[in-house]
Amino acid sequence: MKFLPTIFLLIFSIVLNAQNNLLPQPKEVKVASGIFLLNSKTIIQLKDGSEFLKNYTDRFINRLQNKTGIFLKTHSIQDTSSNNCISIQVSNQVDSLYLGMDESYSIQIKTQSITLIANTNIGAYRGLETLLQLIKIKGKNIYFRNTTINDAPRFPWRGLMIDVCRHWIPEHVIKRNIDAMAMVKMNVLHLHLTEDQAFRIECKAFPKFHLQGNDGNYYTHQQIKSIVKYAKERGIRVIPEFDIPGHATSWAVGYPKLASEKNGKYVLETKYGVFNPTLDPSKEETYAFLTQFFTEMATLFPDEYMHIGGDENNGKQWDENSKIQKFMNDQNLKNNHDLQAYFNGRVLSILTQLNKKMVGWDEIYEANIPKEIAIQSWRGKESLYQIAKDGYPGLLSNGYYLDKVYRAKAYYENNPLPADNKLTEAERKNILGGEATMWSELVNEKTIDSRIWPVTAAIAERLWSTNDNCNTEKLYSKLPYISSQLESIGLQHLSYRTPLLKQISNLNDVTDIIDFVNLLEPLKGYKRHRYLTYKTHYPLSRLVDACYTESYSSKNFELLAKTNCVQSGVCRNRDKIKTKLKQWIKSTEAFIKVADQSIALSEAKPIAYKALELMELSWAQVNSPTELSITKKERAQILISELRDYKLDCKFVAVDGIELLFKK
Ligand code: ACM
Repeated sequence: MKFLPTIFLLIFSIVLNAQNNLLPQPKEVKVASGIFLLNSKTIIQLKDGSEFLKNYTDRFINRLQNKTGIFLKTHSIQDTSSNNCISIQVSNQVDSLYLGMDESYSIQIKTQSITLIANTNIGAYRGLETLLQLIKIKGKNIYFRNTTINDAPRFPWRGLMIDVCRHWIPEHVIKRNIDAMAMVKMNVLHLHLTEDQAFRIECKAFPKFHLQGNDGNYYTHQQIKSIVKYAKERGIRVIPEFDIPGHATSWAVGYPKLASEKNGKYVLETKYGVFNPTLDPSKEETYAFLTQFFTEMATLFPDEYMHIGGDENNGKQWDENSKIQKFMNDQNLKNNHDLQAYFNGRVLSILTQLNKKMVGWDEIYEANIPKEIAIQSWRGKESLYQIAKDGYPGLLSNGYYLDKVYRAKAYYENNPLPADNKLTEAERKNILGGEATMWSELVNEKTIDSRIWPVTAAIAERLWSTNDNCNTEKLYSKLPYISSQLESIGLQHLSYRTPLLKQISNLNDVTDIIDFVNLLEPLKGYKRHRYLTYKTHYPLSRLVDACYTESYSSKNFELLAKTNCVQSGVCRNRDKIKTKLKQWIKSTEAFIKVADQSIALSEAKPIAYKALELMELSWAQVNSPTELSITKKERAQILISELRDYKLDCKFVAVDGIELLFKK
């Protein structure tokens, strides 16, 4: 009898506390009264599951136990049902995901049991992730609200591209990112494997690629197989990109004859940009070589698509090679674009023989190429819509460039198909989805998670959920939860920072300076490159590398000021604002005290001084706006402008909120 009132209280508080942390937001969610209480006797039931689904369910059980602290008595999957049961029912077991496969699922949570139904095991994976997000914890009560969910993705291609060339990204980092992708229902991992700076995959037919084409870091066949299997077990396709004919310096280091400069000698690029080395499209040997190369690669990557890059070929080597010019003349190819189209056609026939479809960046697109070729648009929606209108499958990456370190909102509001798009139904179908794009000039294995997550969760929701189900404010209310869930499965996008700050500050404890660092954000777009011409071996251990892409402290403060401060420092909740400012002041003072201990921190010392002065003026303003002199108010405005304009690769973004305290 003691039990009943507790339950009533619990249900009562649940109704008051109906925060939904589902990301991506499912198509349909209906919440009813009542709850399913999870306890140690709850059984996880799976009948006739494939090995992969059993493995996924095992991992689900582990995560469920880790998250809730409950030791399930059975610890393992059962094949009989009962009350107090989470039952997983799947009609078709498939080996791996292919483009367009049914990923839908439904969930019925009732007081007695939970049922997850999916047409495929891949749909069940998606549903299991949703279930984990539905768990509610209130003290010792672990429960699910009675809910019905019907869910299916908006787009079939929801990808993340990782450039592993500019900086080496080891296998274990790729794998934890695959786990993160699965958590937010992304389904394509695109590995950018060859570049001017490195060739990152073992090639048995042409070993000089991996032996000479990098800094010693590349994936062996074994590692690639392991990554592909890991992804497949999580319902994720792996698409390799071999970027040709441009961006090909690393190809030419070991095999200079492949490139287009006669007698050229090639060394790996250490800078970033567009370079001249380009494969020679006029020689039959090039195609014989590529046939052997792609044949080997096809044994490693089972997906039907292969990415051939094709971007940013500057054509200089072609212009300067008389044999290539003669070839163009003989073949009636009028310009380099025609020549690249010829080259692509030859590569296409190699891929077709290998039963592979081609995907490439905008530059490979031209009239009358075969309709199965998919185009990944980095140039923009106009280009994407033209592709779709012409009947070709297209993917959006423009606006999803993670190396621009934008805030989540910017990526989220980049909708491949906004409601007011002018495409026909058939044209819209040609837009398969999109890919978040992590170019690695300015990230390494330690910092990469922090530039991918949590913003990629925003892109994941945009690509999975309907337009009606996407809402920026709701997204922001969910991101902190999703972010911490990602860390709980091994991502390091938040936790990487403390060791990095310790390293660059020479401090054993950085707790005191964290609040100040939390007010900084990396410069957006590619502005960071303006401050330094980066090279591959430059350390990425500057203060900017330790800044999160988005300062939630600043954002929350801005909201606080917006909702409470009516005019020039006259604020409700004054004490709350003052306490926050005091906390920042303390941390900024701590930062100034230690800034001279390291080159990386000392760069930001001038910012810290200005910020400190501004925070103190802000505190005085909120404390008593009438007592702060006009001169001091003007000084605050000057500091705000100076902080906005200060030339450093990270910015003190709290000025946006602080400015509201001084508005007239
Ligand atoms: C690209 O950003 N060059 C595809």
